[in-house]
Amino acid sequence: MEKNIESHLKETRVFKPARSFAAKALVGSLQQYRRMHRDSIRQPEKFWAREARELTWQKPWKKVLEWKPPFAKWFVGGKLNLAENCLDRHLQGPRRNKAAIIWEGEPGEKRVLTYQQLHRDVCRFANVLKRNKIRKGDRVIIYLPTIPEAAIAMLACARIGAVHSVVFGGFSADSIRDRIADCGATAVITADGGYRRGAIVPLKHNVDEALKGETTIKRVIVFRRAGNDVHIEQGRDVWWHRELEYVDAHCPPVALASEHPLYILYTSGSTGKPKGILHTTGGYLVGIHSTSKYVFDLREDDIYWCTADVGWVTGHSYVVYGPLAAGATTLMYEGAPNWPEPDRFWRIIEEYAVSILYTAPTAIRAFIRWGDQWVKKHDLSSLRLLGTVGEPINPEAWMWYRKTIGGGRCPIVDTWWQTETGAIMITPLPGAIPTKPGSATLPFFGVDAAVVDAKGKEVPPNVGGKLIIRRPWPAMLRSIYGDKPRYKKQYWSEFKNNYFTGDGARRDKDGYFWIVGRIDDVLNVAGHRLGTSEIESALVSHPQVAEAAAVGRPDELKGQGVVVFVTLKSGVKPTPSLKEELRRHVGQHIGAIAKPDEVRFAEALPKTRSGKIMRRLLKEIASGKTVTGDTTTLEDFSVLAKLGSAEE
Ligand code: WTA
Repeated sequence: MEKNIESHLKETRVFKPARSFAAKALVGSLQQYRRMHRDSIRQPEKFWAREARELTWQKPWKKVLEWKPPFAKWFVGGKLNLAENCLDRHLQGPRRNKAAIIWEGEPGEKRVLTYQQLHRDVCRFANVLKRNKIRKGDRVIIYLPTIPEAAIAMLACARIGAVHSVVFGGFSADSIRDRIADCGATAVITADGGYRRGAIVPLKHNVDEALKGETTIKRVIVFRRAGNDVHIEQGRDVWWHRELEYVDAHCPPVALASEHPLYILYTSGSTGKPKGILHTTGGYLVGIHSTSKYVFDLREDDIYWCTADVGWVTGHSYVVYGPLAAGATTLMYEGAPNWPEPDRFWRIIEEYAVSILYTAPTAIRAFIRWGDQWVKKHDLSSLRLLGTVGEPINPEAWMWYRKTIGGGRCPIVDTWWQTETGAIMITPLPGAIPTKPGSATLPFFGVDAAVVDAKGKEVPPNVGGKLIIRRPWPAMLRSIYGDKPRYKKQYWSEFKNNYFTGDGARRDKDGYFWIVGRIDDVLNVAGHRLGTSEIESALVSHPQVAEAAAVGRPDELKGQGVVVFVTLKSGVKPTPSLKEELRRHVGQHIGAIAKPDEVRFAEALPKTRSGKIMRRLLKEIASGKTVTGDTTTLEDFSVLAKLGSAEE
């Protein structure tokens, strides 16, 4: 029988919400959270219906949920428009003249779009789409940098009922081609180029490559961003700014069925061909609106900054749709955090008086590595709330975030969710839930999460298992585009009628969730199953370590041996004695069982474009194999080459 995952991490620090924060928060005490959560689990449909009523429906729904496992329909019979909810809804009162988007380009340009202006731009561009024969239900690829036009294009699609699929601007022509073919897209919206670390990424050129040979694409709309030379294919390609000359700003929002598809977003998962995660309109909107409101505790005067690229689900839900649905001011930044220098983020926070910062552990670890001096140069006193998403955050990185960025006064919301879940699922509510470094804490309202063993039975406190969700939620994926059997198999086959997340986790005695990493990455050492995150967190707690990745390699005696890849902080020398010290350090923090068999120093770790460590590749390197798996999502190929040869 498969054994449970063991847990050895001993983290005992607890941070209660400050009284001053709690006093103004939407949910201001643990008691209130518990009551609301209990009610929302007893009667989820009642909770979600109440949330949905805060939004604008062109036609009311007849039934909140129709659940034919594993297929859910939310707000059945209802009709609405997502762009209307993000824009028109705010035009009646003082929000009309409020900044909807504040944008800064990598070279330093600044733009502010009020709700009124954004509404107008979206309506005009929606008319451009119509003019170019893009219709309700058509699939449209958006391949743009993180510029306001990305949000405008997404919202314009939503306004007319076209289904967008945003492809991250760092992906290659092959990725674009695969996605076009998979969803049968008929149009591409792109730019001439985008900026990344001072260089121009040739976006339009990549699109041209992707369209060579047979393609379903009939139209390419090109926004002029970087001014680089591009080829314009007569009869296929048109300029965004030229098209605007032919349209007016009148474009009523189309009433769409609640289950009308909103977008397809491809996620690679750890293996195999990318999956087109399908999200629909009504339930998704309710999910992101509700979580934006409660988790970020948004107030009218907040400047909210989520640093994600629009190409990721975080960019969809919490750069564009969530904050705009909630009527917030969302800041967008186009470029790299270390351009022109490693203090770019802190400069932006100071300049715009950002009050909420939502970023990823990979970024936080990079900041730690670059050194506190970059942070110290800036006044970050406008910040009142911090967030993280994307990976388990190592407790020491969490502590650094709290102290150095948050000045010890800002709560941290460590939000667990997935492309598939659409919205945040496990998270602190900043005024209510005491936080523990490294834990995503408790489930959001209406979310019935559990940790179970191989048979689907809930495990006792502090025993690791698989993280599942036991009932449908509004923002859940509806399918893998064009592949219902894979949807069933991937998410719903392991535990009947329960959603399997693919993550390992444990709950502590307070019911807090600790995500220990992907189940595929769990190590098995002499019969002990260990999550990767605890070993990595132990290493990151060493003052000289910046980042670590733990993987298993075949071992005759133990089944698997532990190999760790470690990057050191700036200026630290990699020496054999440090290796020994790090092995001992893990032994002390977790126990002899987790002591690495081998410590390898690396200049950098291989990561996906969204910053997750690719342990699968490290595993192959650790066992002396050449890397054979899919590497298309790898951020920087030179990292891999160096890892293969770097051992002394
Ligand atoms: C991981 C990103 C621990 C997890 C929104 C999940 C996390 C996968 C956290 C989804 C967190 C995300 N703590 N692990 N707060 N947030 N993950 O689809 O393994 O890019 O399954 O969605 O990231 O990644 P995705």
